Amino acid sequence: MAEAKAPQQRGGYAKEVSGERLAEIGIRFEVDGEIATIALDRPSKRNAQTFATWAALADIGGNLPEQVRIVVVSGEGPSFSAGIDLRMFTPEGVPGQGSFSSAAQLDATTFEQRIRQAQQGFLWLRRPEIVSIAAVQGHAIGAGFQLALACDLRIVADDVKFCMKEPALGLVPDLTGTKPLVELVGLAKAIDICLTARVVEAPEALRIGLAERVVARDDLAGAVQDKIAELLSTNRDAAAATKRLLQGAHARTLEEQAVAEGLEQSQRLKALFGG
Ligand code: CAA
Repeated sequence: MAEAKAPQQRGGYAKEVSGERLAEIGIRFEVDGEIATIALDRPSKRNAQTFATWAALADIGGNLPEQVRIVVVSGEGPSFSAGIDLRMFTPEGVPGQGSFSSAAQLDATTFEQRIRQAQQGFLWLRRPEIVSIAAVQGHAIGAGFQLALACDLRIVADDVKFCMKEPALGLVPDLTGTKPLVELVGLAKAIDICLTARVVEAPEALRIGLAERVVARDDLAGAVQDKIAELLSTNRDAAAATKRLLQGAHARTLEEQAVAEGLEQSQRLKALFGG
């Protein structure tokens, strides 16, 4: 079988996961200069995710070319992602990846390591050096919702349907989605959304801060391109330093944040004017 075109990269990405292997998993990954695109590409199964999906996402993050400033995460077809592959709930599970019932037999440490590995596929999307944008249409359920929440920004189509389905299935959201959800919408709204597993549609998503922008389905790709152009118009290093500041703001007092601003600015001035 012909090897799929390897992504342009500086790190060891291609030897970690080949394009062919990514295609098997249901992911497309492309780098075009400063922009990387990760597309979930299993539309016939509504881009359902498996442990292999999360391992591949972690590999992409771990080997992201240094020049990349923007990472777009999208899903092919009618749904962004229908969440975890429901075969995980069957005794047979996902071939080569087990099932929830086999995972339940693991000792606590091994199980936690497995979850931590899966979470690595999501956590890197918050790195200060990049801005990650989820382009979300249709259903974003469970792991799909959490993947959208792992990104810095969410631009959504007017048919979007966010749903944190895990509690309805007896599970908790464990793919890093709970903290960003609380930070975006507040504790009460997060409790409402998660503990009812209800669907949040586009107007509400915009109103409560889950989405930065809602556009018609056909305009989604264009709206993402517009945001990319805006984001690339600022200085790369200043953008990373500012994102670091913004990310740390919540955990710092005003005084501490002021100190952090000064430290970052001093680095900026040195970089810009020497000294
Ligand atoms: N896993 C595996 N296959 C899935 C799937 C999933 N999560 N979601 C959809 N599919 C498959 C369907 O089985 C169907 O396959 P076949 O054509 O081979 O029968 C195909 O995708 C199309 O599905 P539908 O006909 O249902 O498509 P639709 O557009 O009418 O509906 C949907 C889309 C509303 C997303 C619906 O498919 C659905 O409700 N899917 C299940 C969603 C779900 O419960 N996900 C689990 C979330 S919890 C989670 O993610 C847990 C975690 O992180 C730990």
